[in-house]
Amino acid sequence: MIKKCLFPAAGYGTRFLPATKAMPKEMLPVVNKPLIQYGVEEALEAGLNGIAIVTGRGKRALEDHFDISYELENQIRNTDKEKYLVGIRKLLDECTFSYTRQIEMKGLGHAILSGRSLIGDEPFAVVLADDLCVNPEGDGVLEQMVKLYKQFRCSIVAIQEVDPQETSKYGVIAGEMIRDDIYRVHSMVEKPKPEDAPSNLAIIGRYILTPDIFDLIEQTEPGKGGEIQITDALMKQAKDGCVLAYKFKGQRFDCGSAEGYIDATNYCFENFYKKGQL
Ligand code: G1P
Repeated sequence: MIKKCLFPAAGYGTRFLPATKAMPKEMLPVVNKPLIQYGVEEALEAGLNGIAIVTGRGKRALEDHFDISYELENQIRNTDKEKYLVGIRKLLDECTFSYTRQIEMKGLGHAILSGRSLIGDEPFAVVLADDLCVNPEGDGVLEQMVKLYKQFRCSIVAIQEVDPQETSKYGVIAGEMIRDDIYRVHSMVEKPKPEDAPSNLAIIGRYILTPDIFDLIEQTEPGKGGEIQITDALMKQAKDGCVLAYKFKGQRFDCGSAEGYIDATNYCFENFYKKGQL
């Protein structure tokens, strides 16, 4: 079954400069918790405790975050501040963390391929930490997708309907509806202009991938923006076999944009922090 979750985290985070000049964008806090920790918690909830992170230069804070800080532990032992570390301690106890570096920034497909040695020959999940997903009503988005994988055994992308004018920010799919929330993908385009988009169903940063994707990425030529796109590799997989697109239950915040980041902050403050859940 799926045990590992890959976090591509080598990107520069240019949309959040200057905040991200010396700090990884994945460490930006939403209220008091860094974005990547929300993602790792979502993975663990889905039963994925092998956390594989693709990092890059200037990203050491990520490794330090998922480690013990003895000095800090010593300082706050037996004080009321210990409660702030309960969440991260649980992750350290229950997950294993492995890291590799993406040496060159050649796109999301290339970042995922860089994680191949951490994943091996098994199906795995991918989380883009700047998409923060919540579903207070039930299972988290990854857990929903892992359950679907058990049923269908093929790659799955999470999708949501977006404003047709916004398609150029996303990978966009078209396909045959096989359940009211599942499509079998026929076509997939990375960041199309609205007039070229096959639909308004946009891929968000949650994927389940079967391991044959690695060979497909290797055979994928640079696409949009001169980068090796996971969307193009998935399109090949869809042609030869099956890729599903799943309209997830819950809410997604695009924390790569200032607006989405503020919305996520307000949401988490109201729904988690004020209820003592952060
Ligand atoms: C990436 C993918 C895109 C997807 C998006 C979701 O783009 O390439 O297909 O829709 O993530 O967040 P990025 O936002 O990294 O440019």
